[in-house]
Amino acid sequence: MERCICYGLMLLMMTVVAVRGNEFEYDDPLTFNHYHGSCPQLEKIIHNKLNHWLKNDSTLAPALMRLHFHDCSVRGCDASILLNHKGSERTAKASKSLRGYAVIDDIKAAVEKECPKKVSCADILTSVARDATVAAGGPFWMVPYGRKDGRVSLAKEAESVPMGHERMTDLIEFFQSKGLNVLDLVVLSGAHTIGRSTCGSLQDRLFNYKGTRKPDPSIDPKYLNFLRRKCRWASEYVNLDAVTPKAFDVQYYKNLQKKMGLHSTDQLLYSDSRTAPLVSAFASQAGVFKHQFAVSMVKLGNIQDYNSDEDGEIRLNCNYVNA
Ligand code: HEM
Ligand SMILES: *[C@@H]1O[C@H](CO)[C@@H](O)[C@H](O)[C@H]1NC(C)=O
Repeated sequence: MERCICYGLMLLMMTVVAVRGNEFEYDDPLTFNHYHGSCPQLEKIIHNKLNHWLKNDSTLAPALMRLHFHDCSVRGCDASILLNHKGSERTAKASKSLRGYAVIDDIKAAVEKECPKKVSCADILTSVARDATVAAGGPFWMVPYGRKDGRVSLAKEAESVPMGHERMTDLIEFFQSKGLNVLDLVVLSGAHTIGRSTCGSLQDRLFNYKGTRKPDPSIDPKYLNFLRRKCRWASEYVNLDAVTPKAFDVQYYKNLQKKMGLHSTDQLLYSDSRTAPLVSAFASQAGVFKHQFAVSMVKLGNIQDYNSDEDGEIRLNCNYVNA
């Protein structure tokens, strides 16, 4: 019990430091009232359209959260993942199982009708990821707006997004390169409390771990058995959280404590001493998890590419750069 309180405090302190840090680093051009004048109904349009899609297919909620993560992971949150041309990010191997593009296109069309040429695809995707989280039972947060859409999208840059077989040091460094810390890494991985994976991304782990022709020894034997039966074909799907696959809860972290992480990058969060204490803290404190998830999602959504000398634009169609 004492341990829990201590980690709760530790989380709180890390959050305070993270928020302060942002204030001093750059003038945040994103604001809550960015569209108050130019598109006051924006969030309502997005919310209604999205819920329409989710009513028919609720598996789109996790898919859209992931699409936002992959967008922000490459050149910041600039909708570069949505550009649909030869050699763009969405054609990369790492993007193969991404879904939800049609939802964004549909919402963009509705937004263009109400507020033409005002709202970026990057802002739409960010808002959709928030609403998808809420629809899945996760926390709400305020989304600051004012992102611009990028003009560059390269498949080879998308291949840097982690695929589930990286070392913890690589994951930490990847997140750090985006301005996200170890706490953000552990809490955002909690998104894997919902959604699914193609079996293709775990077959090595189940049948030939690191070339040993044996499974990863860090998987619970019963869970391994289940996965090997479920994943005979690479095209099959398996839930990321085997116990409560549709609930936005802390079961993901509890699973890690029982060697039931789906990808090795999930399981490593509990075997690596840099991240394990945070896994334990979240597993026992659902409120802390939900609060910190919201805080870290804002950070994820605020990632911008400082190296780009290109000016962004408001795309008219999320699939193409403006002519
Ligand atoms: C820490 C590094 C991460 C790794 C290595 C990772 C890896 C993966 C992998 C391998 C899949 C399954 C892909 C497939 O084969 O279909 C997946 C799915 C998913 N990821 Fe991650 N992920 C990471 C971080 C994140 C973050 C930060 C978020 C969002 C905040 C996220 C949200 C999701 C969701 C919701 C799904 C399910 C998608 C669906 O059901 O369609 N992931 N992730
Ligand atoms: C509803 O969702 C299913 C997949 O779950 C999809 O095949 C179908 O096209 C969707 N229908 C509409 C009207 O979007």
